[in-house]
Amino acid sequence: MLRVMVLVSGGGTNLQAIIDAVQAGKITNVELVGVLSNNKTVKSLERARNAGIPAVSVSPKDYDNRDLFNEAFLEKVDAFAPDLIVLAGFLVAIPPKMAARYSGRMINIHPSLIPSFCGVGYYGLKVHEQALARGVKVTGATVHFVTEGMDEGPIIAQKAVYVEEGDTPEILQKRVMEQAEWILLPQAIDDIANGRVVMENGRAVRK
Ligand code: GRF
Repeated sequence: MLRVMVLVSGGGTNLQAIIDAVQAGKITNVELVGVLSNNKTVKSLERARNAGIPAVSVSPKDYDNRDLFNEAFLEKVDAFAPDLIVLAGFLVAIPPKMAARYSGRMINIHPSLIPSFCGVGYYGLKVHEQALARGVKVTGATVHFVTEGMDEGPIIAQKAVYVEEGDTPEILQKRVMEQAEWILLPQAIDDIANGRVVMENGRAVRK
């Protein structure tokens, strides 16, 4: 069984999709060993505890500087001995040391078709605001391996979603979640857990 840890910052609907998929047997060969948030109060921690998954938080606010936080953060993650780390709406920049340590063993979901609307500053609703401002007719979601550069790692899977007339960022965000994110992320975890996807020579390879 692959030991999977999920990192979250917000409401945790992607986390819930993962929990549900494990419980429904749609993700196999996975044990959800822990959830970590950078925020003590988020709903995600409640979702984890309700599912019987150990949940912890570590906030940059509790440390004098970024290096001390990064150290404490990495220590908390290492303590779970994860085989795979899933960033499911996690808004903290991954320290380079952590990206290196978990290379090929850490994935992220991003709510656009990378390389559009990604990188520094593109998170949450901002992604959808920018997609609407640009007037794209198709957007979507991307799951990728995490490397040091934000949203730059090898792409594992993408799913397209149509933009519709009259969309607001909120409406588009919801459609992207329902039609892409909540499907794509559990699928990618199942693929990795069952050896169907690996990172090799800087690319996501399907076996
Ligand atoms: C999702 O849109 C995810 O792609 C992005 O942040 C959002 C998190 O939503 N990175 P939730 O916390 O899973 O509900």
